[in-house]
Amino acid sequence: MSILRVEQLSFQYLQANRNALRAVTCEFEPGTVTAIVGANGAGKSTLCFALAGFIPHFFRGKLQGKVYVNGADTQQTPLAQLVTQVGMVFQNPFNQISGAKLTVSEEVAFGLENLGIARAEMETRVARTLQLFDLQHVAQQSPFALSGGQQQRLALASIFIMEPPVMILDEPTAQLDPHGTRQVMKTIQTLAAHGRTIVLVEHKLEWVARLAARVLVLDKGALVADGEPRAILSRANAWGLIETRYARAARAAMERGLIEKKELLPQTLEQAKDWFQIEG
Ligand SMILES: Nc1ncnc2c1ncn2[C@@H]1O[C@H](COP(=O)(O)OP(=O)(O)OP(=O)(O)O)[C@@H](O)[C@H]1O
Ligand SMILES: [Mg+2]
Repeated sequence: MSILRVEQLSFQYLQANRNALRAVTCEFEPGTVTAIVGANGAGKSTLCFALAGFIPHFFRGKLQGKVYVNGADTQQTPLAQLVTQVGMVFQNPFNQISGAKLTVSEEVAFGLENLGIARAEMETRVARTLQLFDLQHVAQQSPFALSGGQQQRLALASIFIMEPPVMILDEPTAQLDPHGTRQVMKTIQTLAAHGRTIVLVEHKLEWVARLAARVLVLDKGALVADGEPRAILSRANAWGLIETRYARAARAAMERGLIEKKELLPQTLEQAKDWFQIEG
């Protein structure tokens, strides 16, 4: 059974004059990374809100269709119950900070407090999580005093520590440098390998190619492609996405007549070596 299922989902925000989502149907398999890509305003964050239950429980608007989490209809299931199944990291990490805690360490522990976990166990998990997201040096600072990148890592840490079976990550590395990005991507990979289901909104298509088993493309609220990453990313230009450096190089080589035209373009270093027939 799919852990997440979306059926003919349409949504229009209260103040909007057009639909943010248009009859989207898709499913997500357990233990996989599925990427959602699309231009600005395509509806990626809106789909994330619907998968996590914030639509309809938090954002008001006109909703049609269904979302099921582990078979439960999100419209019929309270948010408090959904959050134990689906954790979401917001696009703007500032929005994730509770405002209820004075230090980064307490903020990371916040979600665990209501789960009745023993104090020693909690301290171990907090220390491990702070380490994982490279926040141990700012553990005693106020969450609001952090840089954008640190706040993004804090938002991720606060969700990761809860260990929800499904994690929705809306551009989790937008504020991070290449090192921070690599760290977060590796963590995502490890989580999926341990059976977590990851939904990742990401503009960096090279990471999408490396991590995702499947890619969904949203365009003006509609799901316009759903499939194997390499085939989909080879058509990135068609949806106004910034293609990977490997795809760009391949396209340039084809246009100059250096290599015969092919439909599948390389999206990773490994694929590029093969595509350009580079030895070693
Ligand atoms: N709270 C809101 N009220 C009204 N309209 C909204 C609201 N949030 C988003 N929208 C509109 O819904 C549409 C989809 O927005 P959404 O944020 O889901 O796109 P996105 O793909 O995440 O874009 P981005 O890449 O910029 O994050 C856009 O037209 C946007 O203006
Ligand atoms: Mg968005």
